[in-house]
Amino acid sequence: MGFETLSFPDAPQIRTSPPGPESKRHLEAQSLRESSAVSYPRGMPMALRRAAGATVEDVDGNVYIDFFGGAGVMNVGHANPDVLAAARAQLGDLTHTLDIPSPVRTAMVKRLAQVLPDELNKMLFGGPTGSDAVEAAVKLVKYNTKRYPMIAFEGGYHGMTAGALSLCSGQAFKGDFLPLLPEVHFAPYAYCYRCPFKREAATCDLECGAYLEHLIEDSHSGVGRPAGILVEAIQGEGGSIVPDKRFMPKVREICDRFEIPLIVDEIQAGFCRTGKMFAFQHTKIVPDIVTLSKALGGVGFPISAIAYRENLDTMPPGKHIGTFRGNLIAYAGGAAGISFMLEHDLAGHATRIGDQMLVQLGELERDSAMVGEVRGKGLMLGVEFVKDRTSKVAAPEFATKVRNLCHKRGVLIEVGGHYFNVARFLPPLVVTEDLAQKGAEIFMDTVRELEKTA
Ligand SMILES: Cc1ncc(COP(=O)(O)O)c(C=O)c1O
Repeated sequence: MGFETLSFPDAPQIRTSPPGPESKRHLEAQSLRESSAVSYPRGMPMALRRAAGATVEDVDGNVYIDFFGGAGVMNVGHANPDVLAAARAQLGDLTHTLDIPSPVRTAMVKRLAQVLPDELNKMLFGGPTGSDAVEAAVKLVKYNTKRYPMIAFEGGYHGMTAGALSLCSGQAFKGDFLPLLPEVHFAPYAYCYRCPFKREAATCDLECGAYLEHLIEDSHSGVGRPAGILVEAIQGEGGSIVPDKRFMPKVREICDRFEIPLIVDEIQAGFCRTGKMFAFQHTKIVPDIVTLSKALGGVGFPISAIAYRENLDTMPPGKHIGTFRGNLIAYAGGAAGISFMLEHDLAGHATRIGDQMLVQLGELERDSAMVGEVRGKGLMLGVEFVKDRTSKVAAPEFATKVRNLCHKRGVLIEVGGHYFNVARFLPPLVVTEDLAQKGAEIFMDTVRELEKTA
């Protein structure tokens, strides 16, 4: 299946420069009553009416190619017909049961078990956001180890609730709210473009891995024996960073040696996003716990979960509760979403389209003075902007300008990275070759044009 019929035809189509008059009306209404903390409409000023596949339409009739994908939620595409049919069928029957079982919940657990490694045979469904899955994972390792320090990684993003926020490295996210959880430590990720150990590919001896080992092994490192290590197998918000292939096995080996549970956060990278069902599957490791959300709910129905090894299943009833312990519509839609992924080999499609996009965008790495690196895996891609390639000084204002102009031209992208200087691509995985190529072309033309006046 080429997925052509899933998206609106002839995208992008800009009828009035966004934000058009109808969008402005909604944006004004929003700013009147809603919080100053609202953020996405500042970068993509518009109001949305509907969406299909890898395209969205605003209320002024502008149709965009969606390389944003609801921040990595829409893996099976907006308004995926299989997911909608399953959700509609559930809607009239039963919508909320806390954690009392029901046929739709049983079906979802079965479906999820089919795609998870056999070792991760226990699941806990919590509140409706990824952050809650991270909270659950942290509680689970603390409960089991009776320890409380945690190690996370530079560039990691894990959510906005206090515990999850503690595990984010970015000061822009947490700086105003400190102190948060005590004894959270950060180790360098294998972010090879900006290696803190100043290594190049030819000289790299995986110093980041050795440093992690040192932090744990040396009782004078200042880091107590951690309750858990939390890592993204491919970093998302950190800037679409694919670590050296030795990195995750090294982290696993360290966890094994020092008996530390390994939590892999698959909230953004999971569900075929990077060309495998889960990003940790690019290596042979199996985590002790994975956190899941975003695409778990099919087309944005809110749900999160952790899956973990049975030996960690020690928490008594009530240790991680909440009113919303799995949403029944999300179970129905999510299970249909996973079936869609498998039936249509969405992981393979993401790999094919992602590889093509990497080749296409790679032209920028060769001929654009402000593009430091083009990288990614599957359809989690990033283009890192720098003021010049030698100093690698980050160019966040340029990244923002590119994002804004792409929006005006009908392509939605997001900005992330350590310095907010990385254009991030997270399209619905049902994006066609044609849409991917067109969107990338518009992005590249925009970069080249803005570079002339930078
Ligand atoms: C890797 C990762 N973990 C956790 C989260 C938090 O999820 P949520 O925003 O649903 O709380 C995100 C959100 O972007 C994420 O990318």
